[in-house]
Amino acid sequence: MEYLQTQGIRLPRLGLGTFRMQGEACRAAVESALALGYRHIDTAEMYGNEEAIGAAIATARIARSDLHVTTKVWHENLAPDAIRKAFDASLKKLRLDYVDLYLVHWPRSDMNLQAVLETLLKLKEQGRTRAIGVANFPVALLRTAVEEIKAPIACNQVEYHVMLDQTRLRKYLATKAIPLVAYCPLAQGRAAADPTLVAIGRKHGASAAQVALKWLLDQDGVAAIPKASRRESQRANLDALNIGLDDEDRQAIAGLPKNKRCVDPAGGPDWD
Ligand SMILES: NC(=O)c1ccc[n+]([C@@H]2O[C@H](COP(=O)([O-])OP(=O)(O)OC[C@H]3O[C@@H](n4cnc5c(N)ncnc54)[C@H](OP(=O)(O)O)[C@@H]3O)[C@@H](O)[C@H]2O)c1
Repeated sequence: MEYLQTQGIRLPRLGLGTFRMQGEACRAAVESALALGYRHIDTAEMYGNEEAIGAAIATARIARSDLHVTTKVWHENLAPDAIRKAFDASLKKLRLDYVDLYLVHWPRSDMNLQAVLETLLKLKEQGRTRAIGVANFPVALLRTAVEEIKAPIACNQVEYHVMLDQTRLRKYLATKAIPLVAYCPLAQGRAAADPTLVAIGRKHGASAAQVALKWLLDQDGVAAIPKASRRESQRANLDALNIGLDDEDRQAIAGLPKNKRCVDPAGGPDWD
């Protein structure tokens, strides 16, 4: 597994997404992923699956220092007391003494960003999270967090895949050496059926989904967290690291439409 170094942590570049997996199915999927060699699990209080993930981690008996766990605070809890309460609940459900990354899940227009980040930073100083970060932050807001508030942001987790351009955000992140963690890296599964990716995959004896993942992981400073409930898909996504894409492949992928945003909730940020 390859890693990204950021703010004192070592982030495995391929992780397991867990949105829309709950209960026994989630526990089984996470156990399967850990057995296959995944060491980066992405969850959030909003996913309602931290207990299942905690159970899977407890069963796996992997050295804590070899495991990376990210969880997130939901936008309804973006005030100091509520953040601390949400964090305590997440940690308890995960059965952990600390998480590796604690993220603001979505920004809110009426939040006090300084107070939010100071609260997260306190948790880091207390050793309860090893690093802090954000998700769904457009460039302007990220700039405030990094340049004005000077928060040690370890990543911005955003939607990124073969069908969505993130050039502007990536350029900014690169200037600050902040990794981009790509969510919906398979465009919620759509990438698996794309004819261009299928054709590229055929050339390399790989699937379209594997091509989509390798395209992301070939980029500096990018990690990806595909969700896969099936063991075969989990394994295929790990194996994607071994494919070698060439210039012709990258050119074909550059020609795909780049405006397919899968996650754009009402009241969400202005992406430009
Ligand atoms: N921060 C945020 O606001 C935010 C928002 C959205 C998502 N996320 C995170 O990002 C993760 C990933 O995003 P996502 O779950 O929305 O979408 P995704 O990872 O792009 O796509 C998941 C879909 O792809 C399928 N799949 C996985 N591997 C495959 C393979 N090798 N071949 C064919 N199909 C494959 C899965 O099927 P099966 O499950 O049936 O195996 C599932 O239907 C989430 O689970 C969550 O952890 C974060």
